Amino acid sequence: MVTTHNNQLVIQNLHVSVAGKAILRGADLEVVPGKVVALMGPNGSGKSTLAQVLMGNPMYEVTQGSVLWQGKNILELAVHERAQLGLFLSFQYPHELPGVNMYEFLSTSYKALRGLDDFEQHFEQRLASALEHFNLNKTFLERNVNEGFSGGEKKKSEMLQLELFQPKIAIMDETDSGLDIDALKLIASNISAVQSPDNGFLVITHYQRLLTLLEPDEVHVLIAGKIVKSGDKELVTELEQKGYEWLSA
Ligand SMILES: Nc1ncnc2c1ncn2[C@@H]1O[C@H](COP(=O)(O)OP(=O)(O)OP(=O)(O)O)[C@@H](O)[C@H]1O
Ligand SMILES: [Mg+2]
Repeated sequence: MVTTHNNQLVIQNLHVSVAGKAILRGADLEVVPGKVVALMGPNGSGKSTLAQVLMGNPMYEVTQGSVLWQGKNILELAVHERAQLGLFLSFQYPHELPGVNMYEFLSTSYKALRGLDDFEQHFEQRLASALEHFNLNKTFLERNVNEGFSGGEKKKSEMLQLELFQPKIAIMDETDSGLDIDALKLIASNISAVQSPDNGFLVITHYQRLLTLLEPDEVHVLIAGKIVKSGDKELVTELEQKGYEWLSA
């Protein structure tokens, strides 16, 4: 029962402080299903802070504003409740889970998020095809989550989750950093494959390359905690040429 309107993620006048310092100062942004929305901006402008707040990291204090999703202000929901509503599954977990291997992690998460029936019917098959897409060997599943993973393996693990869990809104914070060209292409094609009229992506990146592969529908620029410029993919080229200073004034 998907109603397009409800599946829109609406960030309104968001103010967030960290350690008493205001980082987001009235950010407004919408992520619409079926669209790839790119968020760009200089170092320290608050992009990761926004991602952290959306996934419910308690270190970040929301002092004003709301994030609406399916008629609810998700800022009032626990992290697992957000996940069950179909939000940003690849980023809600700690970076390393010592003692938990990938298979346990993926199967437990899948059951929690998609239910036992779905798990029994689809999990093994989907897992096998996802592994194949990322050229990952089955032994990858025996490794502990993110322990000793190379940069590329960490990203592939996130993408594996994306493909398996199919969140309605996925937030990807610099998924492209540190990837070789083939891995980048693989990830871009995976995002495109997962994309549907029901899925929205918020892609945070510094680089044109990923956005050339992904073709974002909208591009927004965050500076000093506020969206100061919005446009289409042409804006990425303009930023590549001019940098951010012309927008800072
Ligand atoms: N947990 C934290 N503790 C202290 N300061 C923080 C914390 N998280 C973010 N900040 C500060 O908030 C500001 C914004 O940081 P944030 O990571 O959101 O920037 P960003 O836009 O993601 O930058 P980058 O492009 O470098 O990734 C920075 O000044 C940063 O030092
Ligand atoms: Mg960041």
